[in-house]
Amino acid sequence: MPQLAFIGSGRMAGAMVQGLLRSGACAPADITVIGGNDSTAVDLSKATGVRVASTPAELLAGADAIVLACKPQQFADLDKSYATLAQGKLVLSILAGTRLATIGTFFASARNVARAMPNTPGAVGQGISARCSATPLAAADAKIVDAILSGLGPVL
Ligand SMILES: NC(=O)c1ccc[n+]([C@@H]2O[C@H](COP(=O)([O-])OP(=O)(O)OC[C@H]3O[C@@H](n4cnc5c(N)ncnc54)[C@H](OP(=O)(O)O)[C@@H]3O)[C@@H](O)[C@H]2O)c1
Repeated sequence: MPQLAFIGSGRMAGAMVQGLLRSGACAPADITVIGGNDSTAVDLSKATGVRVASTPAELLAGADAIVLACKPQQFADLDKSYATLAQGKLVLSILAGTRLATIGTFFASARNVARAMPNTPGAVGQGISARCSATPLAAADAKIVDAILSGLGPVL
């Protein structure tokens, strides 16, 4: 697995991180997280050992794939520098109700944009996620996306 960056470190991000670590797909040093103004990123780091970034640039330095896991209403306030910092990277969004086209417009220079709709039991690893992407995922990218989502339960 490549280096992963999580924008948002709440319940769903926590479930994905825990799943990646539990399965052995990632070591804590492979994952960096950032939150908003609250303490979720530090809390997740304390619980799992993953790195915490304090700026978008720090978060995405060295990251190959980005998981967008803030609330849909927080997406509008996302630091605009993410758009350019994401150049060439894979983006996976789990935002409910936010279209792939909207995510793709923001992350216009990403190498691909995938979206998944997990359901509520995913927060405790017992959900089912369906995924899709802007263009067909390369085999290596499909493997990354499925490994990330499997922390929430089976992936379709
Ligand atoms: N929960 C579910 O059952 C469920 C099911 C399906 C889909 N989803 C989707 O999953 C996503 C996450 O849901 P959740 O339940 O995990 O939410 P959550 O627990 O409220 O977590 C949201 C995270 O986003 C962070 N955040 C807020 N503003 C930010 C910003 N500007 N930049 C970076 N991070 C920011 C928050 O940080 P701080 O709190 O530390 O400020 C927090 O870590 C949502 O888009 C939702 O639609 C959730």
